[in-house]
Amino acid sequence: MTTPLRLGIAGLGTVGVGVVKIVRQKATLLEQRTGRPVVISAVSARSKGKDRGVNLSGYAWEDDAVALAKRDDVDVFVELMGGENGPAKASIEAAIAAGKHVVTANKALLAHHGQSIAAAAEEKGVVVRYEAAVAGGIPVIKALTEGLAGNEISRVMGVMNGTCNYILTRMQDAGLPYDEVFAEADALGYLEADPNLDVGGIDAGHKLALLASIAFGTQVSFDSMELEGIQRISIEDINLAADMGFKIKLLGVAQLTGRGLEQRMTPCLVPEDSPLGQLTGGTNMVVIEGDAVEQIVLRGPGAGEGPTASAVIGDICDVARGVQYPTFGVPATELIAPTPAHSNSPAPYYLRMSLLDRPGALAKIAAALGETGVSIDRMRQRHNDGTAAPVLIVTHKTQRAAINDAIALMQDSGVLASEPVALRIETI
Ligand code: NAP
Ligand code: HSE
Repeated sequence: MTTPLRLGIAGLGTVGVGVVKIVRQKATLLEQRTGRPVVISAVSARSKGKDRGVNLSGYAWEDDAVALAKRDDVDVFVELMGGENGPAKASIEAAIAAGKHVVTANKALLAHHGQSIAAAAEEKGVVVRYEAAVAGGIPVIKALTEGLAGNEISRVMGVMNGTCNYILTRMQDAGLPYDEVFAEADALGYLEADPNLDVGGIDAGHKLALLASIAFGTQVSFDSMELEGIQRISIEDINLAADMGFKIKLLGVAQLTGRGLEQRMTPCLVPEDSPLGQLTGGTNMVVIEGDAVEQIVLRGPGAGEGPTASAVIGDICDVARGVQYPTFGVPATELIAPTPAHSNSPAPYYLRMSLLDRPGALAKIAAALGETGVSIDRMRQRHNDGTAAPVLIVTHKTQRAAINDAIALMQDSGVLASEPVALRIETI
């Protein structure tokens, strides 16, 4: 009889229940695939009495996740509570200190405390695995750390927040304004408890920061990411972009250049016939470029009980097999502290402005662009909507700094009725 791998699971919500179900329903398969039984010793959540639709009677119960993490009958502490600090952080640290391996889906925690957690785990000789933290069911961390281990990675990008992609595609398909689709997403339970994590780009930014660390061997650097959410994207932007053959996506891009680590999670226009342009609903996509492999595209469900539990179980199986490597692919002590760099690679930009409808207003906009060296590719003015004249401009390739300077001049000129929207057009 081989030694079972004994789990302690803290958090019995969407993901935790999904993990319990797979461990119970696929016990034989997991044993065949890992060579040993995978069993649950104990579980923990806030409310012991809650009906979770799964039989927990065979498992010990702990009210306190830290106590669960330290139990003698637990080999792997599975943290599925969430939260950047609080019990998630305390229990993971306690588990590592007690010599337990850790599997988690918690991107917020690792984006902020990944370096110290990785260092502690490596000192103790235990692993911290977090496949489910990035792009749900897509095995992107495994792809980067294992399958692509022989590559110098040049760029990682993708759509990593299913809720934002749902909102943007639903706005386009139904012709509905942002506020209405946001309310729909809320009613469907798609939004995080703090919706700004989704629509503000923070959740996707956490995920990109983890991928960048693995891809470039740098310390996780979430605080230096350029972040912009989708709250200011209007149905008008979506329709105008569609007229020109583009879709709007909350797109993350990370690359290490001579100037430093560029990381941005911002709404961008992408060609509608590109793989990213064709991504609909809550699906995620990650594009990885490496010197040997060239480009690979991974696509799949970014959230939900089954996909996320699938990723957690994948990590648990690796621990059962004895697969052991550093948290971010190279030892924590060797991760480089990155120099943050603003991305300044030239790209065309989409600009939408509302102009006060009076003589010379358009000339002032054109002059502002001319003065900052931004060349206009296409321009369209719509009928005055009652308060102002909507104007759309697509520029030739330019740098974001020049667009920002042009917007500042436009604002000084007093012809803008509201703050302009400026979106990068990303060609992939
Ligand atoms: P959830 O449904 O809200 O469940 C959270 C669970 O944690 C609940 O069982 C809750 O207990 C328990 N919990 C919360 N605070 C606790 C505390 N202080 N002490 C003990 N237990 C506590 O969350 P989820 O959607 O499963 O997400 C779990 C983790 O997976 C998060 O890190 C999330 O970011 C990540 N994730 C989720 C998805 C997804 O699709 N849901 C996808 C990728 C990653 P009660 O049930 O008793 O209230
Ligand atoms: N709120 C996240 C999303 C859940 O919409 O992608 C998965 O991390």
